[in-house]
Amino acid sequence: MTFSQDFIDKVRDANNIVDLFSEFTQLKRSGGRLMGLCPFPGHNEKTPSFSVSEDKQVYHCFGCQRSGQIFTALKELKGLNFPEAVEHLANRAGIMLPAEHASTRIKPEVKSRKEKLFKLNSISAEVLHNQLLDLPNDHYAKKYCQTRKLSADIINTFQIGYAPNQWDTLVNHLNAIKAPLSMAAELGLIRKRKEGDGYFDLFRDRLMFPIYSHKGECVGFGGRAFTDEQMPKYLNSPESEIFSKGHTFYGLNETAKYIRTENSVIIVEGYMDLVALYAAGIKNVVATLGTALTPNHARLIKRYSQNVIVLFDGDEAGQKAAVRSLPVLLEEDLLPKAILLPDQMDPDDFINEKGVSTLQEILKSAPDLFSVVLDRYLRDYRGSSADKIVLLNEVSPLMAVMKDSRLKDLYIAEIAQKISVEPSWVSKNIGTPSTRANLAENRHPVTPEMPKDVIGKGARITLEGASRAELFLLNIALMSSERFNAIWQSEIIDNMTHIGVREMFVKAQGYHRQMPNEFDKLSANLMTLTDNPKALALYLGEPMCSMTAEALDKLMNDCIRQVKEKFFRNQTRELAASLRNSPQEERLEKLEQIMNIQKSKHTLRRDRES
Ligand code: CTP
Ligand code: MN
Repeated sequence: MTFSQDFIDKVRDANNIVDLFSEFTQLKRSGGRLMGLCPFPGHNEKTPSFSVSEDKQVYHCFGCQRSGQIFTALKELKGLNFPEAVEHLANRAGIMLPAEHASTRIKPEVKSRKEKLFKLNSISAEVLHNQLLDLPNDHYAKKYCQTRKLSADIINTFQIGYAPNQWDTLVNHLNAIKAPLSMAAELGLIRKRKEGDGYFDLFRDRLMFPIYSHKGECVGFGGRAFTDEQMPKYLNSPESEIFSKGHTFYGLNETAKYIRTENSVIIVEGYMDLVALYAAGIKNVVATLGTALTPNHARLIKRYSQNVIVLFDGDEAGQKAAVRSLPVLLEEDLLPKAILLPDQMDPDDFINEKGVSTLQEILKSAPDLFSVVLDRYLRDYRGSSADKIVLLNEVSPLMAVMKDSRLKDLYIAEIAQKISVEPSWVSKNIGTPSTRANLAENRHPVTPEMPKDVIGKGARITLEGASRAELFLLNIALMSSERFNAIWQSEIIDNMTHIGVREMFVKAQGYHRQMPNEFDKLSANLMTLTDNPKALALYLGEPMCSMTAEALDKLMNDCIRQVKEKFFRNQTRELAASLRNSPQEERLEKLEQIMNIQKSKHTLRRDRES
């Protein structure tokens, strides 16, 4: 049983190799890569020799020499075969398996452990919800609900609860049903006492919002304080095996059906915002959990609708959040619009002050998020040429991640109009090399796509026996699209002697041509093609990883020269050998060829010495 290529691609795109390894080892940025202690079984080390490239989604250990991409990582880390790795990563990203794979091949204990964790959370949600329902009407928690307009209906729909001001509400319940307390501690529900062997509750005196994944699993909680004095305002479950804020939207399990029917989704920033909109009848809403919108969020939402409206506070923080979310949404081919609310209001305040119909009007005529961001960028714009360049630098990273060329053209026209230039000037000048640095900073990593022709097949390109110079050139080419093009255009590949290296270059050129905007995926793609992936991870190690651009240029030129010299040497040798057996009339011609080669060799040497 095999997965479709599209499914594999989707799973791959939804996972980040850095997140995966971060569960096993602590990674620190060092040069253009992340370094840490090798996480692989059988390799215990005291100084870090394990490196990961987030951009390229590949890894290499300089100690144990293991390299590869996310699927091989799971093989090494957990002993999963390819289909199991796909399944594992799909589960991790919350992607449903195709129906024919429903019977899981993941080891049963992994599954049941997670199920236990979900169960512990949902039991706790139930317990705390009942605590709220059982309170007398004059209790401050009930009164708080009234002032926040949380009706009985809303409290039921979102299973809102109350964690009493006691140390043992949950502990007692969990004890009574003989639940595994150490697991409840892993979920941040309770904690072991320093002295003695008991546990105590972590959520105390808070209004509780259980957080469900889009699949309906209870993954965590947000607990709101009742007063401004109580800190923090929200106490949230810690990230755990089953809870990742970057992968979760509050409310989605309940609102998915409305998002589908409306074919549009409103993204807000908090529990209360979502609940307030929902209560007012605007139900196609999801909320982030107080963190920035991630590529995972964007991919998740894309499965429900392409039409996104971000509805944020109009303060500086809300504006910044809007700006940051734009590339993330554009990169997933979503069509984002935006509303930034006026006067420090959040959606809840706005509905209370202006009424829901006003909000609905505003939502209906929401401008593109791009226009909102562009206006923000234009705040300091005074029309000078320098201002134009500054603006171009700001929008270039956005344009670079856009896949829909129709939308891109419209945005380019909008930019051109705002800064009084021709659209062709804008399109010609966005994405020039000077803007790549901005892009690398803002951009979220994309995971590589499997080359279409290798899944499940054994045919591998061998790189054994390739010369240092040829391998270095291959690695330098993988560092950036500019370097790749420079090396490809130098036609040095024709002079390479190792058939595997040449084949890799040809494959690389093919992928690069097909997916020019996804250069970073190239390395992981090629790794799946070869029997020797570590030969493609040389740029993660010394000396290459810490070289300046000049040093790399020099290395590149040195390698090109070495390849040429070897090529000439071989040619001379072959010609000389055939000379002996050639008839007289051919000999002269061959001698001339040899002399020409010698001439080229001399030029090469002169170039080097000058
Ligand atoms: N948040 C958090 N921790 C905090 C503050 C906020 O985790 N100390 C997260 C919560 O997910 C919260 C979201 O950020 O829902 C938005 O924060 P805020 O606007 O302050 O909260 P609201 O949910 O709007 O609550 P309220 O209307 O009661 O202020
Ligand atoms: Mn609020």
